[in-house]
Amino acid sequence: MTEEITARKKTALSGIQPSGNLTIGNYLGALSNFGSFTEEFNCYYCVVDLHSITVRQVPAELRRRTYEVLALYIACGLDPDKCTLFVQSHVHEHAELSWMLSCFTMFGELSRMTQFKDKSAKHADNINAGLFTYPVLMAADILLYQADAVPIGQDQKQHLELARDIAERFNGVFSPTFTVPEPYIPKVGANIMSLAEPTKKMSKSDANENAVVRILDTRDVIIKKFKRAVTDSDTCVRRAEGKDGINNLMTIYSCFTGKSFDEIEREFDGRGYGDFKAAVGEVCADGLAPVQARFSELMADKAYLEEVMKNGAEKASRTASKTVAKVKRKLGFVTL
Ligand code: TYM
Repeated sequence: MTEEITARKKTALSGIQPSGNLTIGNYLGALSNFGSFTEEFNCYYCVVDLHSITVRQVPAELRRRTYEVLALYIACGLDPDKCTLFVQSHVHEHAELSWMLSCFTMFGELSRMTQFKDKSAKHADNINAGLFTYPVLMAADILLYQADAVPIGQDQKQHLELARDIAERFNGVFSPTFTVPEPYIPKVGANIMSLAEPTKKMSKSDANENAVVRILDTRDVIIKKFKRAVTDSDTCVRRAEGKDGINNLMTIYSCFTGKSFDEIEREFDGRGYGDFKAAVGEVCADGLAPVQARFSELMADKAYLEEVMKNGAEKASRTASKTVAKVKRKLGFVTL
Protein backbone atom coordinates (compact mmCIF):
# COMPACT_ATOMS: atom_id res chain seq x y z
CA MET A 1 0.00 0.00 0.00
CA THR A 2 2.76 2.47 1.01
CA GLU A 3 4.70 1.55 -2.12
CA GLU A 4 1.63 2.18 -4.22
CA ILE A 5 1.29 5.67 -2.73
CA THR A 6 4.97 6.60 -3.19
CA ALA A 7 4.98 5.28 -6.75
CA ARG A 8 1.89 7.29 -7.69
CA LYS A 9 2.58 10.27 -9.93
CA LYS A 10 1.24 13.34 -8.18
CA THR A 11 -1.84 15.07 -9.54
CA ALA A 12 -2.33 18.74 -10.37
CA LEU A 13 -5.68 20.30 -11.15
CA SER A 14 -6.92 23.76 -11.95
CA GLY A 15 -9.85 25.46 -13.61
CA ILE A 16 -10.83 28.71 -15.28
CA GLN A 17 -14.36 30.08 -15.64
CA PRO A 18 -15.58 30.87 -19.16
CA SER A 19 -17.42 33.87 -17.73
CA GLY A 20 -15.64 36.62 -19.65
CA ASN A 21 -12.74 37.13 -22.02
CA LEU A 22 -9.61 36.07 -20.16
CA THR A 23 -7.18 38.71 -18.94
CA ILE A 24 -3.42 38.83 -18.44
CA GLY A 25 -4.30 38.31 -14.76
CA ASN A 26 -5.66 34.85 -15.61
CA TYR A 27 -2.67 34.30 -17.86
CA LEU A 28 0.13 35.36 -15.50
CA GLY A 29 -1.50 34.17 -12.28
CA ALA A 30 -2.58 30.77 -13.55
CA LEU A 31 -2.71 29.72 -17.21
CA SER A 32 0.91 30.43 -18.15
CA ASN A 33 2.07 28.28 -15.21
CA PHE A 34 -0.08 25.23 -15.96
CA GLY A 35 2.42 23.82 -18.48
CA SER A 36 5.20 23.59 -15.90
CA PHE A 37 3.25 20.86 -14.09
CA THR A 38 2.77 18.50 -17.00
CA GLU A 39 6.08 16.61 -16.75
CA GLU A 40 6.02 15.90 -13.06
CA PHE A 41 2.28 15.71 -12.42
CA ASN A 42 -0.71 13.95 -13.82
CA CYS A 43 -2.62 17.10 -14.84
CA TYR A 44 -6.30 17.91 -15.10
CA TYR A 45 -7.28 21.32 -16.44
CA CYS A 46 -10.92 22.07 -16.65
CA VAL A 47 -13.17 24.77 -18.11
CA VAL A 48 -15.47 25.38 -15.15
CA ASP A 49 -18.72 26.24 -16.88
CA LEU A 50 -20.90 25.18 -13.92
CA HIS A 51 -19.22 27.87 -11.83
CA SER A 52 -20.01 30.51 -14.45
CA ILE A 53 -23.78 30.35 -14.04
CA THR A 54 -23.62 31.76 -10.51
CA VAL A 55 -23.71 35.04 -12.43
CA ARG A 56 -26.17 35.43 -15.35
CA GLN A 57 -24.62 34.45 -18.68
CA VAL A 58 -25.82 34.93 -22.23
CA PRO A 59 -26.07 31.26 -23.34
CA ALA A 60 -24.49 31.79 -26.79
CA GLU A 61 -21.56 33.65 -25.18
CA LEU A 62 -21.05 30.98 -22.54
CA ARG A 63 -20.95 28.33 -25.27
CA ARG A 64 -18.45 30.32 -27.36
CA ARG A 65 -16.21 31.07 -24.39
CA THR A 66 -16.15 27.42 -23.36
CA TYR A 67 -14.52 26.60 -26.71
CA GLU A 68 -12.27 29.63 -26.34
CA VAL A 69 -10.94 28.73 -22.91
CA LEU A 70 -10.24 25.19 -24.07
CA ALA A 71 -8.46 26.58 -27.15
CA LEU A 72 -6.43 28.90 -24.91
CA TYR A 73 -5.33 25.97 -22.76
CA ILE A 74 -3.92 24.31 -25.86
CA ALA A 75 -2.57 27.58 -27.30
CA CYS A 76 -0.65 28.10 -24.05
CA GLY A 77 1.15 24.83 -24.62
CA LEU A 78 -1.00 22.23 -22.87
CA ASP A 79 -0.92 19.04 -24.91
CA PRO A 80 -4.24 17.13 -24.73
CA ASP A 81 -2.30 13.88 -25.10
CA LYS A 82 -0.19 14.65 -22.05
CA CYS A 83 -2.84 16.06 -19.73
CA THR A 84 -6.59 15.86 -19.33
CA LEU A 85 -8.37 18.93 -20.71
CA PHE A 86 -12.10 18.87 -20.16
CA VAL A 87 -15.31 20.80 -19.53
CA GLN A 88 -16.71 20.57 -16.01
CA SER A 89 -20.38 20.07 -17.00
CA HIS A 90 -19.38 17.02 -19.09
CA VAL A 91 -18.46 15.15 -15.91
CA HIS A 92 -21.58 14.88 -13.77
CA GLU A 93 -19.62 13.78 -10.70
CA HIS A 94 -18.63 17.42 -10.03
CA ALA A 95 -22.21 18.36 -9.20
CA GLU A 96 -22.78 15.09 -7.36
CA LEU A 97 -19.76 15.35 -5.09
CA SER A 98 -20.50 19.02 -4.54
CA TRP A 99 -23.84 18.12 -2.94
CA MET A 100 -22.25 15.55 -0.65
CA LEU A 101 -19.47 17.93 0.38
CA SER A 102 -21.95 20.72 1.03
CA CYS A 103 -23.17 18.62 3.95
CA PHE A 104 -19.64 18.86 5.36
CA THR A 105 -19.30 22.61 4.86
CA MET A 106 -20.52 25.10 7.43
CA PHE A 107 -22.73 28.08 6.71
CA GLY A 108 -20.29 30.25 8.70
CA GLU A 109 -17.35 29.13 6.56
CA LEU A 110 -19.11 30.05 3.33
CA SER A 111 -20.26 33.38 4.81
CA ARG A 112 -16.63 34.35 5.38
CA MET A 113 -15.57 33.92 1.75
CA THR A 114 -14.44 37.30 0.46
CA GLN A 115 -15.36 36.45 -3.14
CA PHE A 116 -18.95 35.75 -2.02
CA LYS A 117 -19.07 39.10 -0.21
CA ASP A 118 -17.63 40.95 -3.25
CA LYS A 119 -19.84 39.22 -5.80
CA SER A 120 -23.01 39.60 -3.76
CA ALA A 121 -22.29 43.32 -3.42
CA LYS A 122 -21.76 43.53 -7.19
CA HIS A 123 -24.83 41.45 -8.11
CA ALA A 124 -27.20 42.53 -5.34
CA ASP A 125 -30.22 41.58 -7.45
CA ASN A 126 -29.06 37.97 -7.85
CA ILE A 127 -27.53 36.66 -4.62
CA ASN A 128 -28.39 33.06 -5.45
CA ALA A 129 -27.59 29.91 -3.47
CA GLY A 130 -25.04 28.87 -6.10
CA LEU A 131 -23.02 32.02 -5.49
CA PHE A 132 -22.93 31.06 -1.82
CA THR A 133 -22.04 27.37 -2.30
CA TYR A 134 -19.62 28.06 -5.17
CA PRO A 135 -16.52 27.16 -3.08
CA VAL A 136 -18.00 23.72 -2.34
CA LEU A 137 -18.19 22.99 -6.07
CA MET A 138 -14.59 24.14 -6.35
CA ALA A 139 -13.63 21.78 -3.52
CA ALA A 140 -15.41 18.97 -5.40
CA ASP A 141 -13.44 19.78 -8.58
CA ILE A 142 -10.20 19.38 -6.68
CA LEU A 143 -11.02 16.48 -4.38
CA LEU A 144 -12.62 14.35 -7.13
CA TYR A 145 -9.20 13.90 -8.74
CA GLN A 146 -7.27 13.57 -5.46
CA ALA A 147 -5.22 16.60 -6.53
CA ASP A 148 -1.96 17.21 -4.66
CA ALA A 149 -1.28 20.58 -6.30
CA VAL A 150 -3.59 23.35 -7.39
CA PRO A 151 -1.99 26.17 -9.42
CA ILE A 152 -3.99 29.35 -8.79
CA GLY A 153 -3.68 33.10 -8.39
CA GLN A 154 -3.79 34.77 -4.97
CA ASP A 155 -7.55 35.45 -5.07
CA GLN A 156 -8.37 31.71 -4.97
CA LYS A 157 -6.25 30.97 -1.89
CA GLN A 158 -9.16 31.27 0.55
CA HIS A 159 -11.24 28.83 -1.52
CA LEU A 160 -8.36 26.39 -1.59
CA GLU A 161 -8.00 26.60 2.19
CA LEU A 162 -11.68 25.75 2.51
CA ALA A 163 -11.21 22.75 0.18
CA ARG A 164 -8.42 21.58 2.49
CA ASP A 165 -10.64 22.00 5.56
CA ILE A 166 -13.48 20.06 3.91
CA ALA A 167 -11.09 17.24 2.93
CA GLU A 168 -9.63 17.06 6.42
CA ARG A 169 -13.07 17.10 8.02
CA PHE A 170 -14.34 14.28 5.81
CA ASN A 171 -11.15 12.27 6.31
CA GLY A 172 -11.46 12.78 10.06
CA VAL A 173 -14.99 11.40 10.16
CA PHE A 174 -14.66 8.57 7.62
CA SER A 175 -10.92 7.67 7.53
CA PRO A 176 -8.61 8.95 4.75
CA THR A 177 -10.64 9.45 1.58
CA PHE A 178 -9.31 12.62 -0.02
CA THR A 179 -5.81 13.91 -0.72
CA VAL A 180 -5.42 17.27 1.03
CA PRO A 181 -4.40 19.69 -1.77
CA GLU A 182 -1.63 22.30 -1.68
CA PRO A 183 -1.99 25.66 -3.43
CA TYR A 184 0.71 26.65 -5.94
CA ILE A 185 0.72 30.43 -6.12
CA PRO A 186 3.41 32.06 -8.29
CA LYS A 187 5.90 34.36 -6.54
CA VAL A 188 5.41 37.06 -9.18
CA GLY A 189 2.13 37.61 -11.02
CA ALA A 190 -0.29 36.05 -8.53
CA ASN A 191 -2.15 39.30 -8.11
CA ILE A 192 -2.29 41.41 -11.25
CA MET A 193 -4.12 44.65 -10.57
CA SER A 194 -6.53 46.76 -12.63
CA LEU A 195 -4.80 49.31 -14.88
CA ALA A 196 -7.45 51.91 -14.01
CA GLU A 197 -7.64 51.31 -10.25
CA PRO A 198 -4.42 49.57 -9.27
CA THR A 199 -5.59 48.80 -5.73
CA LYS A 200 -8.24 46.47 -7.23
CA LYS A 201 -7.66 43.05 -8.81
CA MET A 202 -7.76 42.92 -12.61
CA SER A 203 -11.02 41.10 -13.27
CA LYS A 204 -12.38 39.67 -16.52
CA SER A 205 -15.84 41.03 -15.68
CA ASP A 206 -14.68 44.64 -15.16
CA ALA A 207 -17.02 47.00 -17.02
CA ASN A 208 -14.16 49.41 -17.74
CA GLU A 209 -12.26 48.01 -20.75
CA ASN A 210 -9.26 50.23 -19.99
CA ALA A 211 -8.82 48.47 -16.65
CA VAL A 212 -8.11 45.07 -18.19
CA VAL A 213 -5.75 43.71 -20.81
CA ARG A 214 -7.25 40.65 -22.43
CA ILE A 215 -5.18 37.75 -23.72
CA LEU A 216 -6.83 38.20 -27.11
CA ASP A 217 -6.56 42.00 -27.35
CA THR A 218 -4.77 43.16 -30.50
CA ARG A 219 -1.26 44.58 -30.28
CA ASP A 220 -2.51 48.16 -30.79
CA VAL A 221 -5.17 47.82 -28.10
CA ILE A 222 -2.66 46.33 -25.63
CA ILE A 223 -0.19 49.17 -26.21
CA LYS A 224 -2.94 51.80 -25.93
CA LYS A 225 -4.28 50.32 -22.68
CA PHE A 226 -0.84 50.33 -21.06
CA LYS A 227 -0.26 53.94 -22.18
CA ARG A 228 -3.47 54.89 -20.33
CA ALA A 229 -2.57 52.94 -17.17
CA VAL A 230 -2.96 54.93 -13.96
CA THR A 231 0.37 55.65 -12.21
CA ASP A 232 1.36 58.39 -9.74
CA SER A 233 2.92 61.85 -9.60
CA ASP A 234 6.48 60.55 -9.14
CA THR A 235 8.52 60.04 -12.32
CA CYS A 236 10.95 57.36 -11.25
CA VAL A 237 10.38 53.68 -12.16
CA ARG A 238 10.91 51.99 -8.79
CA ARG A 239 8.98 49.73 -6.50
CA ALA A 240 7.67 51.43 -3.39
CA GLU A 241 4.75 51.36 -1.01
CA GLY A 242 1.81 53.35 -2.37
CA LYS A 243 3.07 53.24 -5.99
CA ASP A 244 0.44 50.62 -6.82
CA GLY A 245 0.22 51.42 -10.53
CA ILE A 246 3.98 51.28 -11.10
CA ASN A 247 4.38 48.20 -8.87
CA ASN A 248 1.77 46.45 -10.99
CA LEU A 249 3.38 47.46 -14.29
CA MET A 250 6.78 46.32 -12.99
CA THR A 251 5.25 42.97 -12.05
CA ILE A 252 3.78 42.56 -15.53
CA TYR A 253 7.08 43.57 -17.15
CA SER A 254 8.95 41.13 -14.92
CA CYS A 255 6.58 38.25 -15.81
CA PHE A 256 6.97 38.78 -19.54
CA THR A 257 10.74 39.36 -19.55
CA GLY A 258 11.93 37.28 -16.60
CA LYS A 259 13.83 40.35 -15.32
CA SER A 260 14.08 41.09 -11.60
CA PHE A 261 12.74 44.34 -10.14
CA ASP A 262 16.32 45.61 -9.60
CA GLU A 263 17.12 44.98 -13.25
CA ILE A 264 13.97 46.81 -14.32
CA GLU A 265 14.80 49.80 -12.10
CA ARG A 266 18.28 49.97 -13.64
CA GLU A 267 16.94 49.59 -17.18
CA PHE A 268 14.56 52.54 -16.77
CA ASP A 269 16.82 54.71 -14.61
CA GLY A 270 16.49 58.31 -15.81
CA ARG A 271 13.66 57.47 -18.20
CA GLY A 272 10.08 58.59 -17.60
CA TYR A 273 6.84 56.70 -17.12
CA GLY A 274 5.90 57.21 -20.79
CA ASP A 275 8.87 55.13 -21.97
CA PHE A 276 8.22 52.49 -19.36
CA LYS A 277 4.52 52.11 -20.16
CA ALA A 278 5.31 51.76 -23.87
CA ALA A 279 7.87 49.07 -23.06
CA VAL A 280 5.39 47.12 -20.90
CA GLY A 281 2.89 47.22 -23.77
CA GLU A 282 5.51 45.93 -26.21
CA VAL A 283 6.67 42.97 -24.09
CA CYS A 284 3.09 42.03 -23.27
CA ALA A 285 2.02 42.13 -26.93
CA ASP A 286 5.15 40.16 -27.93
CA GLY A 287 4.53 37.58 -25.22
CA LEU A 288 0.91 37.05 -26.20
CA ALA A 289 1.43 37.00 -30.00
CA PRO A 290 2.28 33.28 -30.32
CA VAL A 291 -0.65 32.33 -28.05
CA GLN A 292 -3.00 34.44 -30.17
CA ALA A 293 -1.74 32.91 -33.42
CA ARG A 294 -2.19 29.36 -32.17
CA PHE A 295 -5.58 30.26 -30.69
CA SER A 296 -6.89 31.45 -34.08
CA GLU A 297 -5.82 28.20 -35.74
CA LEU A 298 -7.52 26.15 -33.04
CA MET A 299 -10.77 28.10 -33.13
CA ALA A 300 -11.01 27.39 -36.85
CA ASP A 301 -11.20 23.67 -36.06
CA LYS A 302 -14.22 23.15 -33.79
CA ALA A 303 -14.30 19.43 -34.58
CA TYR A 304 -10.82 19.05 -33.09
CA LEU A 305 -11.79 21.00 -29.96
CA GLU A 306 -14.87 18.80 -29.54
CA GLU A 307 -12.74 15.69 -29.85
CA VAL A 308 -10.45 17.03 -27.11
CA MET A 309 -13.49 17.76 -24.92
CA LYS A 310 -14.88 14.28 -25.50
CA ASN A 311 -11.62 12.44 -24.77
CA GLY A 312 -10.96 14.68 -21.78
CA ALA A 313 -14.42 14.03 -20.33
CA GLU A 314 -13.95 10.27 -20.70
CA LYS A 315 -10.57 10.32 -18.98
CA ALA A 316 -11.78 12.64 -16.22
CA SER A 317 -14.93 10.56 -15.63
CA ARG A 318 -12.89 7.43 -15.03
CA THR A 319 -11.11 9.03 -12.07
CA ALA A 320 -14.09 11.05 -10.86
CA SER A 321 -16.44 8.07 -10.78
CA LYS A 322 -14.01 6.11 -8.60
CA THR A 323 -13.90 8.90 -6.03
CA VAL A 324 -17.67 9.31 -5.99
CA ALA A 325 -18.16 5.54 -5.55
CA LYS A 326 -15.75 5.59 -2.62
CA VAL A 327 -17.49 8.58 -1.01
CA LYS A 328 -20.92 7.01 -1.39
CA ARG A 329 -19.70 3.78 0.18
CA LYS A 330 -18.22 5.65 3.12
CA LEU A 331 -21.39 7.67 3.62
CA GLY A 332 -23.50 4.51 3.78
CA PHE A 333 -25.42 4.76 0.51
CA VAL A 334 -26.64 1.42 -0.82
CA THR A 335 -24.73 0.42 -3.95
CA LEU A 336 -26.28 -2.01 -6.39
P1 TYM B 1 -11.18 32.51 -12.36
O1 TYM B 1 -11.83 31.97 -13.58
O2 TYM B 1 -11.70 33.77 -11.78
O3 TYM B 1 -9.64 32.74 -12.65
C1 TYM B 1 -8.84 31.72 -13.21
C2 TYM B 1 -7.46 31.78 -12.59
O4 TYM B 1 -6.87 33.06 -12.81
C3 TYM B 1 -6.42 33.59 -11.56
N1 TYM B 1 -6.59 35.05 -11.59
C4 TYM B 1 -5.61 35.93 -11.37
N2 TYM B 1 -4.32 35.77 -11.08
C5 TYM B 1 -3.59 36.90 -10.93
N3 TYM B 1 -4.08 38.14 -11.03
C6 TYM B 1 -5.38 38.35 -11.32
N4 TYM B 1 -5.87 39.57 -11.44
C7 TYM B 1 -6.22 37.20 -11.49
N5 TYM B 1 -7.52 37.04 -11.79
C8 TYM B 1 -7.74 35.71 -11.83
C9 TYM B 1 -7.30 32.95 -10.51
O5 TYM B 1 -6.69 32.96 -9.25
C10 TYM B 1 -7.48 31.56 -11.07
O6 TYM B 1 -6.40 30.72 -10.69
N6 TYM B 1 -12.92 29.59 -8.71
C11 TYM B 1 -11.94 29.70 -9.77
C12 TYM B 1 -12.07 28.63 -10.81
C13 TYM B 1 -12.04 27.24 -10.29
C14 TYM B 1 -10.91 26.51 -9.87
C15 TYM B 1 -11.39 25.22 -9.51
C16 TYM B 1 -9.55 26.82 -9.76
C17 TYM B 1 -13.13 26.43 -10.18
N7 TYM B 1 -12.73 25.19 -9.71
C18 TYM B 1 -10.53 24.25 -9.05
C19 TYM B 1 -8.70 25.83 -9.29
C20 TYM B 1 -9.19 24.55 -8.93
C21 TYM B 1 -12.11 31.04 -10.46
O7 TYM B 1 -13.13 31.66 -10.37
O8 TYM B 1 -11.07 31.39 -11.25
